[in-house]
Amino acid sequence: QPTLADLARRHGRYFGSATDNPELTDSAYTKILGSEFDMITPGNGMKWYATEPRQGVFDWTAGDQIVNLARENHQQVRAHTLVWHSQLPDWLTSKQWTADALRAVLRQHITTEVRHYRGEVYSWDVVNEAFNDDGTYRESLWYKTLGPGYIADALRWAHEADPHARLYLNDYNIEATGPKSDAYYALAKNLRAEGVPLDGIGFQTHLALQYGYPTTIEGNLSRFSGLGLDTALTEADVRMRLPATDAMLAEQADWYRQLTQACLAVRRCVGITVWDYTDKYSWIPGVFPGEGAALPWDEQLNPKPAYQALREAL
Ligand code: XIL
Repeated sequence: QPTLADLARRHGRYFGSATDNPELTDSAYTKILGSEFDMITPGNGMKWYATEPRQGVFDWTAGDQIVNLARENHQQVRAHTLVWHSQLPDWLTSKQWTADALRAVLRQHITTEVRHYRGEVYSWDVVNEAFNDDGTYRESLWYKTLGPGYIADALRWAHEADPHARLYLNDYNIEATGPKSDAYYALAKNLRAEGVPLDGIGFQTHLALQYGYPTTIEGNLSRFSGLGLDTALTEADVRMRLPATDAMLAEQADWYRQLTQACLAVRRCVGITVWDYTDKYSWIPGVFPGEGAALPWDEQLNPKPAYQALREAL
């Protein structure tokens, strides 16, 4: 039977999964990872703490393992992520930086990492989670020290280091229209007008049953297409309060169906990635206590109603 990737490909889309290094010893897990998907995102292995644990000392072990596995499986890679406020190494967060010194650190990190993976990755999430929910800039180390110009700088440096990688801004709670999504729309429009190399917007799509389905997602994706940008659902999962009931799993399936239909309805929505594919390795229970069951395969690696819904929607 055709895989999710096969079904997505018929629409000119990809279907991806995040993965993480510790899980790669689980052969039942890697079997499905290697067959059902055609796009892979390292869940942690390319983040700053992993790639530059000491200043100027780079470690590609985790990222390379995933890129090599993807290559063996004829999969592409959405690389994630260069500039973020979270999962930074201590040497970076424990020091007071002048703007010039921090800009040099950021440039070196981006240039070195993007060059290392040049030609090996489809895209980069260059800046992750730059805005607050109210549409103001997040007061990250980057924003506080460098001002909003760090975003254009990061995109330019990444483009210089790999002119073929598609460059994204990525965030959560921007699937529906609202102040945060509007902030991205305004920023993206300005960046495009200034000729800054921005190719797409990544909509993380970490949804939760208790908050309701973001019904404006298709229209919202469309308006970004109107700016000449690609869009992608980059970290999809649909969590719920545990224990999950059959009714909740049916509703979850319907949400996966709807978000897939939304992407397929928008010409420049290039693909969907789930933030890992099995509840066995989901990040949700660790970060949202009492919640989980967010992914299309259960903890035993059995497909859930959501998996069937994805197949039907694709
Ligand atoms: C998560 C990972 O899945 C976890 O293993 C880690 O402990 C924390 O980060 N948004 C993002 C991702 O952009 O990088 C996050 O990944 C999930 C939320």
